[in-house]
Amino acid sequence: MQKPVAISALTPIEAAAELARLAQEIAIHDARYYREDAPSVTDAEYDALRQRNDAIEAKFPELVRADSPSQRLGAAPVEAFGKVRHRVPMLSLANGFSEEEVREFTARVRRFLNVGEAEPLAFTAEPKIDGLSISIRYSHGKLVEAATRGDGFEGENVTANIRTIADVPHVISASDFPADFEIRGEIYMSHADFAALNVAQEKAGEKVFANPRNAAAGSLRQLDSRITARRALRFFAYAWGYAERPPASTQWDVCQAFKRWGFPVNRLMVLCETVEEMLAHYHRIEEERAALGYDIDGVVYKVNRLDLQERLGFVSRSPRWGLAHKFAAEKAMTRLEGIDIQVGRTGALTPVARLAPVTVGGVVVSNATLHNEDEIERKDVRIGDTVIVQRAGDVIPQILGPVLEKRPVDAVKFVMPELCPFCGSHAVREGVVRRCTGGLVCPAQAVERLRHFVSRLAFDIEGLGEKVIQEFYDDGLVASPPDIFTLEARDARSLKKLKDREGWGAASVRKLFDAIDARRIIGFDRFIFALGIRHVGETTARQLARAYGSAEHLRDQMIAAADPENEARRELTAHEGIGDVVADAVVEFFAEAHNVEVVNALLSHVKVEALEAVATSSPVAGKTVVFTGALERMTRDEAKAMAERLGAKVSGSVSKKTDLLVAGPGAGSKLKDAEKHGVEVIDEDGWFRLVGQD
Ligand code: IVH
Repeated sequence: MQKPVAISALTPIEAAAELARLAQEIAIHDARYYREDAPSVTDAEYDALRQRNDAIEAKFPELVRADSPSQRLGAAPVEAFGKVRHRVPMLSLANGFSEEEVREFTARVRRFLNVGEAEPLAFTAEPKIDGLSISIRYSHGKLVEAATRGDGFEGENVTANIRTIADVPHVISASDFPADFEIRGEIYMSHADFAALNVAQEKAGEKVFANPRNAAAGSLRQLDSRITARRALRFFAYAWGYAERPPASTQWDVCQAFKRWGFPVNRLMVLCETVEEMLAHYHRIEEERAALGYDIDGVVYKVNRLDLQERLGFVSRSPRWGLAHKFAAEKAMTRLEGIDIQVGRTGALTPVARLAPVTVGGVVVSNATLHNEDEIERKDVRIGDTVIVQRAGDVIPQILGPVLEKRPVDAVKFVMPELCPFCGSHAVREGVVRRCTGGLVCPAQAVERLRHFVSRLAFDIEGLGEKVIQEFYDDGLVASPPDIFTLEARDARSLKKLKDREGWGAASVRKLFDAIDARRIIGFDRFIFALGIRHVGETTARQLARAYGSAEHLRDQMIAAADPENEARRELTAHEGIGDVVADAVVEFFAEAHNVEVVNALLSHVKVEALEAVATSSPVAGKTVVFTGALERMTRDEAKAMAERLGAKVSGSVSKKTDLLVAGPGAGSKLKDAEKHGVEVIDEDGWFRLVGQD
């Protein structure tokens, strides 16, 4: 071996060349050592290379490469992962479990786009990798940041750990690689690497992992990236987040670009022209599944053309253009030891099976929902039975039914209680569900509702944790959400002051009141989410907030929508992301007088702030738009979704508040109304020109 040149004698050009060579050489040794367990140099030789790399970098800090071994391994453990706000949210796919659902999906897409059955419409089909999704950002060809999915809007910064994964390029020199690009895909672990890891973990007396997915997640979330580097993680690219411009005009071509740039793309991705081809590919992947060497849990279909994907948009957290066709779930047998009753936030009594612990699909299951009394009756499950338990991916475990041959003579039929086990109120049947009528008096619901109300994504009141809520509830200080906002005034009048309570003092009470005061102004989306309406999670809450603008308007419209004939009801489901299930739940909520009372009481204590518009920069942001007549380039639903995406409010009728009427052929009375109110009228082409999508 040639004697290396003394570092002090290196010119910057020589140093850069030397660093490039060292990065490459050390990466090869790392791969041999960590992945193949077959090092080709001694530890001392390896250390010498690392030291030389470090020494050159110390002298020429401006030459440190993104793929330098110092960036890859040497990072000292960090205290905790920083957060990364996703520039484009990381959403998930809707699931389908049957061929029927796949056919419905393609039909739905065609309907939305107004593409007839006879016209071609291509979809990609590829395995759904059972790992964890990741977003990796490149700036000018260099890997600069990687984040986990987190809650979809904000993930954890795992850049140092991602840099240790050999499948993930650190530098991309292709001339067509965008200057600012986020590639997305799945981090996973192969079966072989998983088995080897568990053997090593066991030997070292460390925790063994339940399945490759957990192992991959545990490995990626190591605070010390040197540990991650020793775990054989892999990567498949299948999507992208922020991109100045997508690198191609179809899903398929984008993935071809990924390949050219050096990202692994799954070899089982194909392009399908018909639903039959999609289903045939599903069966092919299903057959190959066992021999793949890594876990997959279904097949993902995506509309191929990106312009169509754009038109299809999203419902809630899932794109209309994609579907995850899941494989049949894994099953196991165990004994049903008892049935407990849980009372949820909405008062529903749910029978939950207590099971002898059993492993299903790599996870230990000891309880499973039995949904409702009809379900127990229909399945004829009895306490003492041996039952079949099924678990599909991240779905909660289900009981399929009893194994009748194994039924013991003393198996007991379950009788659903007619009184709430928590408050003794009558539990009445509403359809298949039995619901406690105790509402806000039922401790099972009240505490849960209060806890939800003050939780991080709702009112986020610091100092009102679960324990304090329970105590205040037990002592009659806070029985329902508005009480939180009268606490200080009541305390001032009370003889038994909060500050004198055990564990409290003047300072902590002041802090709590300040925290409450800080929330007397609240975002409309948080306000809605805090109400704990069934099916209304944070995303739906945001959509409702955008669609209705103010709490009073939402309340009044929802009360009007209780009449199914009322226009308000139709308008509700026409909003982006609001389907019938959500609509029913919101309408039911406002149909309950005591809920409206709570909302009104809250409104007398807090000021609800409207949500800023979605896209403040679009030419229609904040405008009220009405569509009428026949539209030819998009369906009515699509027009509405598009306008809302651009920050406009869509209304069903023209009034003086309307800013724009988009009129197609055959427009009638609305056109006249527009004239009357002096509203600007454009045709469909004009609309596309206006929003810059022509
Ligand atoms: S595309 C809008 N393709 O499945 C989301 N996802 O529920 C687009 N996944 O969070 C995702 N394999 O972690 C896509 N070939 C694939 C996938 C895949 C696995 C995961 C991903 C996502 C979840 C969807």
